[in-house]
Amino acid sequence: MTGPAGRAARSATRRRGTRARAGRAAGTVTPVPDVAPDHPDQSAAPDQPDGDALARTIAMVNDKGGVGKTSIVANLACQFSAAGYRCLLVDLNRQANLADDLGFRDGPVDDHGAGLLLSIVSGSPLRPTEGVRPGLDVVPGGARLVDLVPLMVSRVQEQGREAFRALADVLAPVAGDYDLVFVDCPPETTILTDLALTAARWVLMPTKSDVGGLVGMRLVGERFTLARELNPGLRLLGAVLFATGSRSRVVHAEVREAVTRAFGGHSPLFTTSIRHAERTAQDARRLGKLAHELEQEVAAQPAWWAALRAGQKEDGGRRLSPTAASVAGDYRDLGVELLTLLREAEESDTTAPATPLARPEQEATS
Ligand SMILES: Nc1ncnc2c1ncn2[C@@H]1O[C@H](COP(=O)(O)OP(=O)(O)OP(=O)(O)O)[C@@H](O)[C@H]1O
Ligand SMILES: [Mg+2]
Repeated sequence: MTGPAGRAARSATRRRGTRARAGRAAGTVTPVPDVAPDHPDQSAAPDQPDGDALARTIAMVNDKGGVGKTSIVANLACQFSAAGYRCLLVDLNRQANLADDLGFRDGPVDDHGAGLLLSIVSGSPLRPTEGVRPGLDVVPGGARLVDLVPLMVSRVQEQGREAFRALADVLAPVAGDYDLVFVDCPPETTILTDLALTAARWVLMPTKSDVGGLVGMRLVGERFTLARELNPGLRLLGAVLFATGSRSRVVHAEVREAVTRAFGGHSPLFTTSIRHAERTAQDARRLGKLAHELEQEVAAQPAWWAALRAGQKEDGGRRLSPTAASVAGDYRDLGVELLTLLREAEESDTTAPATPLARPEQEATS
């Protein structure tokens, strides 16, 4: 739905969403942060231009595979929704690792990307699967997306680059229902990256410190420049170092330099990085749980000696790695940094949504 009717519907939905948030009980993981006290009366808020429904759409992009796009987006969205933000995850990946990380692969809500494909084919609004976690909805990816690339190739032949507006067109009518929307992109699929970059307002780019991740970043820089011709509001939120053991200033400086080379000018690198934690990563994908959910399970599991006495093997069998708590802490810090950046950007942007993002509160997410 576009035009004033669409805007009114979206404003009404936003108002409903705000009320629902305010009334929602605190999550089991983290308390709900207050909606910002300087929040204006929603009924008095001026209507937003159409494009603004996508103002908090963040594309997770790096052309290189295995650099943490899915892990970061799943953890951030899940932590934000546990903290009371309404979040939507859109999965453009045929591998659909989001389904593993959130634990819904092959379950009743997993349509393997059929809904997303149908929306793009028909131009009808996306129909997210609700409540994958409280406050977290998902548009699943999966094997059905195999047809998306050839579809886009033929549309680009017919319509030129305008065809890349297809995702924005089907996402905009529902995006206003959410505080934050994330689009998880596949690696090495330029055409789907272009779709995501035309729909998003922000790019979040995970990378490893190795050469592959940095080269992938350069390719994103090229697509970013092209996408801005159709989507001039697109901005780089920042790069995030993933699965690193290094707090070395030299490594950070190298990554920052690579971001500058790829994007020119400003080179934002998040202060927070996600530490290397292989066992926690394996636990997470095997169990379909995010780091902060594992953290709770680790806290609840019996001490190793009690498990031993109860007859479990000395190696603990499938005991969960206690590192989950540290990894969850990294994601919390990253989330707070991200929300702070978004708020600051919106405060200095006159076209930003009238409803301010709730202020991230360190104690609310720690
Ligand atoms: N903190 C961590 N330390 C080490 N490995 C991790 C960590 N978190 C996740 N992993 C693992 O790293 C691998 C790559 O992560 P992920 O799938 O998030 O990357 P990706 O960029 O989305 O990959 P793709 O481009 O293939 O979709 C996965 O096997 C994941 O389990
Ligand atoms: Mg992925």
